[in-house]
Amino acid sequence: MNLILRRDMLRWGLAGLGAAVAGPVLRAQEAKPGALAEELVRTPKQMEGPFYPVKLPLDTDNDLLIVNDGLTAAVGEITHLSGRILDSKGDPIRNVLVEIWQVDNAGAYLHEKSSNGEKRDKNFQGFGRFMTGSSGEYYFRTVKPVPYPGRCPHIHFAVKMKGREKWTTQCYVKGHPGNEKDGIYKSIKDDKQRAAVTIDFASLAASKVGELAARFDIVMGFTPAGD
Ligand SMILES: [Fe+2]
Repeated sequence: MNLILRRDMLRWGLAGLGAAVAGPVLRAQEAKPGALAEELVRTPKQMEGPFYPVKLPLDTDNDLLIVNDGLTAAVGEITHLSGRILDSKGDPIRNVLVEIWQVDNAGAYLHEKSSNGEKRDKNFQGFGRFMTGSSGEYYFRTVKPVPYPGRCPHIHFAVKMKGREKWTTQCYVKGHPGNEKDGIYKSIKDDKQRAAVTIDFASLAASKVGELAARFDIVMGFTPAGD
């Protein structure tokens, strides 16, 4: 597939691919604007942690499997990670810069202080960015995170928007046995809030190579004051 087509697909293509998997999750959180606001669970804020890249990679797009125009993809369970950034009423927020960073399949961050640094997968981008449009939707292609010393698997998120301080959280792999031993995960005391950051990495039926799809909607605790 040529590069332009591939990037185009990454930017827009999940609408078809992800919809089948994402459907039930979408419906669960899809409040009509202004309605059921009290039923929307706010996504809990979580610490940024020490491994946000000191120096951003040269490639910061939303495909973490390929660095620049590299020919070799990162190793790991390919995951289509998508979701929406919503305000406290359930309305999508546009022009949000969504950043993610996480370990590769060897448990290494793109950071010199990371454990497992000697095993780092040079083909994994480790960090990516996506700017939301009017649907509030974001999309990344990445790998399913693995544990590293002291932590259960997770993906870090930073949400950046004009006029607001950077907001960070982490999402977790539903059913992973390490979750219940992880102090940062357990620091979320509210069951619904904990469930809101614990997401399914489900097999994508359409994939012949075992790709996964994960859906993580982020509900912010405010309503933008017009834009
Ligand atoms: Fe981390």
